Amino acid sequence: MNRVFGSWRKKRNSPESVHPDGENIPKHVAIIMDGNGRWARKLGMPRIVGHRSGMKAVKRVTIAADELGISVLTLYAFSTENWKRPKEEVDFLMSLPTEFLAMELEELIEKNVQVRMMGHTEELPEHTIAAMEEAIERTKHNTGLILNFALNYGSQREITESVKEIAREVMEGKIKPEEITQQMIGSRLLSGGLPDPDLLIRTGGELRLSNFMLWQTAYSELWFTDLYWPEFGREQLFAAVAEYQNRTRRYGGLS
Ligand code: IPE
Ligand code: IPE
Ligand code: MG
Repeated sequence: MNRVFGSWRKKRNSPESVHPDGENIPKHVAIIMDGNGRWARKLGMPRIVGHRSGMKAVKRVTIAADELGISVLTLYAFSTENWKRPKEEVDFLMSLPTEFLAMELEELIEKNVQVRMMGHTEELPEHTIAAMEEAIERTKHNTGLILNFALNYGSQREITESVKEIAREVMEGKIKPEEITQQMIGSRLLSGGLPDPDLLIRTGGELRLSNFMLWQTAYSELWFTDLYWPEFGREQLFAAVAEYQNRTRRYGGLS
């Protein structure tokens, strides 16, 4: 591993019992929940066991994010590239939102959580959309944590679609090409209306974005851990936020 960047990664099983400062809590935390399959393999179990265990981590981290006063928690649950996996695994992944919401929706409502979804709905099975829509509808007036599931999400595709929409508006004569702004592109993305992530976490040891929020993470702070997603919880979220609070965000300027 590159020595300069070594400190980005948290060592497996390192003691991390820190509590973040109540000030300077990131508004938007986005997580690439990776490593379910490898976690299961480590235990000699099928990959889907890892996905089910990952669902428990979703619950832990949602509770911890709410406790910290984070405004938006975006969780990368399924990418536009994940369709390449065996059908059995894809079917299982598509059943998880339904299962998760059946178990947790009442508690999410009680906790004033607002559920949202960010993704390309066209390819999703009917039951997955129905479960998500019910959760979105029943929590739309909640004013607490926004729990945003990135499901069948692909950033290159969302950027392409945003650009197509703008091109149509140009064709219709509504705007001129020279009037296109960064803000116009950003507001037409699937995350439109949400602030950009302040902190991006990836579990599972890989150091890449895998087509996740490419536009929106232009100035996000990145935090990687070798821990697999089913091993992630409150303690690690707190450690990531505490480290975020020690970063200096310059946005290209001087501190
Ligand atoms: C993350 O875990 C969940 C999804 C991508 C849907 P993986 O399934 O990618 O697990 P690994 O990376 O193969 O261990
Ligand atoms: C990224 O994980 C997608 C999600 C966590 C949903 P992948 O496991 O699909 O990423 P790659 O293939 O290792 O880049
Ligand atoms: Mg993976």
